[in-house]
Amino acid sequence: MKAIVSEQIGGPQTLVLRELETPQPGPGEVRLRVRACGVNYPDALIIEDKYQFRPVRPFAPGGEVAGEVEALGADVTAFQVGQRVIALVGHGGMAEQVVAKVTKCLAMPPAMSFVDAAAFIFTYGTSWHALKQRAALQAGDTLLVLGAAGGVGLAAVQLGVAVGARVIAAVSSEEKLALAKAHGAVDGVVYPQGPFDKDGTKALAELFKGVCGKQGANVIYDAVGGDYAEAALRAIAWEGRFLIVGFPAGIPRLPLNLPLLKGCQIVGVFWGAFTDRDPVANQRNNEELLDLYTQGKIRPHVSAQYPLADAGRAISALAERRALGKLVVTID
Ligand SMILES: NC(=O)c1ccc[n+]([C@@H]2O[C@H](COP(=O)([O-])OP(=O)(O)OC[C@H]3O[C@@H](n4cnc5c(N)ncnc54)[C@H](OP(=O)(O)O)[C@@H]3O)[C@@H](O)[C@H]2O)c1
Repeated sequence: MKAIVSEQIGGPQTLVLRELETPQPGPGEVRLRVRACGVNYPDALIIEDKYQFRPVRPFAPGGEVAGEVEALGADVTAFQVGQRVIALVGHGGMAEQVVAKVTKCLAMPPAMSFVDAAAFIFTYGTSWHALKQRAALQAGDTLLVLGAAGGVGLAAVQLGVAVGARVIAAVSSEEKLALAKAHGAVDGVVYPQGPFDKDGTKALAELFKGVCGKQGANVIYDAVGGDYAEAALRAIAWEGRFLIVGFPAGIPRLPLNLPLLKGCQIVGVFWGAFTDRDPVANQRNNEELLDLYTQGKIRPHVSAQYPLADAGRAISALAERRALGKLVVTID
């Protein structure tokens, strides 16, 4: 099978197209014929050995795929050959075939395309867990989303709208703001690109406060980090929840007088660990997400598709902050 492979530590330009042996599913596993693979920020990190997991090389990036079941491991009865599924595989998805654990597979609704399916569960799963379990977002809450036109960010915008929150988007360009508004954000800010000095952070905080209003944001979804985090935290409401989701702009250090003064919570979000630690709640979340999809209330915005040989270009676009919504690698 063909796969786009990391043979040495490095950026997307180091990925190479290779012929690898077809993987065989073991007990509790299925082999998928991959039709589409979603591109996520961890793909940029994993090839540079900067992610939580470091696979043995050579390996293909790609943690989220959609495809057809092609072979069943011994004892697998939950899925049938030919069935269309979404799977979370950690890595290995940017390939013609991949082995997935049955517990990490989800049947695709009939009306869902492979492209939508490959751009779905990683981002919506993360954002739904964040907004539901970690923030208890309520209708009428003000939700400020940083990086609102990115993968998890745009999912948070759509889910916030579905809950009935007043969603405010924070992004780095007018084009990204227009996208977030097209998906239901009622207002937003275009922030400058960091890093910021003390005055720059204060100016940014004023920008966030201005758009969130006097009460501040009840929930802040931070998938950006860096100097943006402290500025956003200064715009949180009394008893607000500040969600720590990701750090493409760097790991922030927050002054702890702020949570005291705001009576707010700083809440970590680790969706992958949640799926393992609470599979029952995770399954319920997945069912709710597929329901929302079927009702047309949430829908991935896939702005570009790439053939397998160009998967490195897709990862570069994401890492260089050029992606709008989701990018997907399609495999014929
Ligand atoms: N906690 C969890 O369980 C969990 C689960 C999934 C993903 N994540 C994390 O969430 C973050 C976002 O993932 P994603 O797949 O949604 O990525 P993405 O589509 O690339 O979105 C990230 C956004 O961050 C902003 N950004 C700010 N500074 C950046 C920089 N220096 N480089 C790149 N982007 C920058 C960009 O928006 P602007 O240009 O508008 O600023 C971009 O749209 C990643 O850190 C990822 O590891 C966490």
